[in-house]
Amino acid sequence: MSKRNGAASATRNQMIAALDIGTSKVTCIIAQLVPNGQLRVVGIGRRDMRGMARGSVVNMDTARDSIANTVHIAENMTGETVKSVIVSVNCGRPKSEIVSFEAPIANGEVGPADIRRVLQRGRRIENELDRALIHSIPVGFRLDEARGIRDPRGLFGETLGAEVHTVTAEAGPVRSLAACVRDCHLEIDRFVIAPYAAGLATLVEDEWTLGATVIDMGAGVTGVAVFADGEIVHADTVPIGGEQVTRDLAHGLSTPIEQAELLKIRYGSALTQPSDDRSIIEIPAIGADEHVPSHPAPKSLLTGIIRPRIEETLELVRSRLQETPYLARAGRRIVLSGGACQLKGLPQLASTIFDSKVRIGRAIPFDGLAETAMGQAYTTCTGLLRFAAENRANADGIGSALGTFVAAQADNRSRFGRFGGWMKEHFR
Ligand SMILES: Nc1ncnc2c1ncn2[C@@H]1O[C@H](COP(=O)(O)OP(=O)(O)OP(=O)(O)O)[C@@H](O)[C@H]1O
Ligand SMILES: [Mg+2]
Repeated sequence: MSKRNGAASATRNQMIAALDIGTSKVTCIIAQLVPNGQLRVVGIGRRDMRGMARGSVVNMDTARDSIANTVHIAENMTGETVKSVIVSVNCGRPKSEIVSFEAPIANGEVGPADIRRVLQRGRRIENELDRALIHSIPVGFRLDEARGIRDPRGLFGETLGAEVHTVTAEAGPVRSLAACVRDCHLEIDRFVIAPYAAGLATLVEDEWTLGATVIDMGAGVTGVAVFADGEIVHADTVPIGGEQVTRDLAHGLSTPIEQAELLKIRYGSALTQPSDDRSIIEIPAIGADEHVPSHPAPKSLLTGIIRPRIEETLELVRSRLQETPYLARAGRRIVLSGGACQLKGLPQLASTIFDSKVRIGRAIPFDGLAETAMGQAYTTCTGLLRFAAENRANADGIGSALGTFVAAQADNRSRFGRFGGWMKEHFR
């Protein structure tokens, strides 16, 4: 039995609660981690979100009410009280960096304590930068002058160095989010960047191997996560989402926001069709009642408003990825997620802009996950469950994480094992 399976069997029927606090809706899914390491959904709550803008809490009271109500719905389905949650983060302009740390080796031979010491140096950046450290994933070790060491245990030297991929976010918005969740009498197991979770929910084996970029298009934020060699290597966000498209339509068509949302979902498209000029739709006027008739407009008017905003968003994503070393490799395969990626014609437009293969992501199913919860708007929440399950199955610290890597040489069925179990996170 591999180490990974052994650890999983020790976590008998643990409960995991995932909380995705989006700009437009909040979702809580409660799952059991059953003895074979699989997840089984036992409760789900979903409510419209109030008190958020572009992924950040802007009204504590209303945000707290939305979250508490959602968790209660999920709790009522299971009959269990949720004490702690794993929570998505889309606020504070998440930023990826590769950071180097080093520490002297205590007795000349590298042991788990030396590895832990060097990795814990990463915690300091929180205080130094006034940014919250969300993820900290080692990508390679150095021993004195020798670089590119994957497993330094048992080697001898004076100084151990580590290259760590850190994802940080501005501390203020993250603290507000944390305070809001804690106000609901919930402890926070940990935070996970939203597009990372979306990738965990949707990516298939080949995408983990060859590299892929997840673009998570929500209501207020478009999140980006780049994956290569089985791990996240880059995270970013662009503060534009589907809500902006709706506002553009409301403004451009002089129609109420609710009507603009309906028109977008029913007739909206990111691609122009030759028939759009001849296809006439009715646009309800602001303040319309039976005395103020709606006015007709060609569908091309909608597309003409929607397309530039989508182009702007995707071009911004592309130009920020161009500043990283990853576009050439992981930009060849794009997986779209989030409710806003359901706009008609969006995959085709994304494919043109990135000159890549683009597919719509869908949560890889697990026990009890209803069809609706596998849709694009729920990938972040299901990905949070996967993150928690993977981390609990390997929860005994650095020794386990490195051990998983070593065991993985023999167990090439495990995604984390095969492509970098040792890259599991160690700090929190
Ligand atoms: N069929 C559809 N076509 C176009 N847009 C859609 C469709 N269905 C939902 N949307 C849009 O998806 C957005 C909501 O997506 P989602 O639920 O993923 O956002 P969120 O998680 O609440 O927000 P964020 O992640 O940005 O904080 C809304 O702007 C909505 O208009
Ligand atoms: Mg979201």
